[in-house]
Amino acid sequence: MLEQIKAIDNLEKLQELYSQTFGKNGSMTARLKEMKNLGEEERISLNKEKDELTAAFKTRQTELEDAAMMASLATEKIDTTRTPAPTATGKIHPFTKLLADIGRAFETMGYAMAGGPEIESDWYCFEALNFPPNHPARDMHDTFFIKGSDNLLRTHTSSVQIREMEKHGAPIKIYSPGATYRKEMDATHTPMFSQYEGLVIDKNITFANLISEIKIFFGKIFDSAEIELRVRPSYFPFTEPSIEFDIEWDKKTGRPAKGTGTWIEMGGAGMVHPNVLKNAGVDPAAYQGFAFGAGIECLAML
Ligand code: DAH
Repeated sequence: MLEQIKAIDNLEKLQELYSQTFGKNGSMTARLKEMKNLGEEERISLNKEKDELTAAFKTRQTELEDAAMMASLATEKIDTTRTPAPTATGKIHPFTKLLADIGRAFETMGYAMAGGPEIESDWYCFEALNFPPNHPARDMHDTFFIKGSDNLLRTHTSSVQIREMEKHGAPIKIYSPGATYRKEMDATHTPMFSQYEGLVIDKNITFANLISEIKIFFGKIFDSAEIELRVRPSYFPFTEPSIEFDIEWDKKTGRPAKGTGTWIEMGGAGMVHPNVLKNAGVDPAAYQGFAFGAGIECLAML
């Protein structure tokens, strides 16, 4: 029997023989039932036989399980250096794609990327941008304040304008995409969203430059030569004059188009207020410029 167990080469056959031996109607089971009728020496001998068989089954089971494991490991190798095959369903997220498009558009226009902290001070988010404390324009920014500090979650990326001018002075030409936060939540607002911002400060920068840059930028974003821009007077404390701008839109094609009479709001802009330049350490008598900014998610939806 011991030789027979050692010779078995698969787990099912081993299980089968085990059942025939130790199962309900097994040969060994029957003999063990009769143990009480045996003399002492025979009892000791039967017990020894039982223990040897049990150990032999156990040993062979372990050997066969190990062999099965080694065999499957040999065939189931994972090549962690392999690039996954492209699938038909995997796609770059529209937001990620747009973020890359925005970066590419700005960089081909000569803007350098700039980042800033999302936990921001009141100074960079508001005061340096010409929102004095208690200024009614702060009402438009429903702000998350951080208890026990002067800090808040930035409500717009415009804070980066100040940080960058402070760091690099003028002339400067930057863009800044990033996360922004407002305590707003309804069908068309989320408490966390994203904005991008362009800023150009130099000598002799005019409002005409602003209009032309916005047109070129959206021409690149929509890959379109059909950009018709409409500007409306608006108010932001950090620009004077301030505008909001719209692009003429074809609802049927979902593309920019001239002469449709449908306009879609795209963002805010203006000539940077002299107080903002001063607060960032730039001389407003020598330099001037423009800024424009807008939300990324709403652009992604378009
Ligand atoms: N920061 C403004 C907002 O969140 C958007 C904006 C308006 C940005 C005018 C600008 C700008 O750079 O010049 O509503």
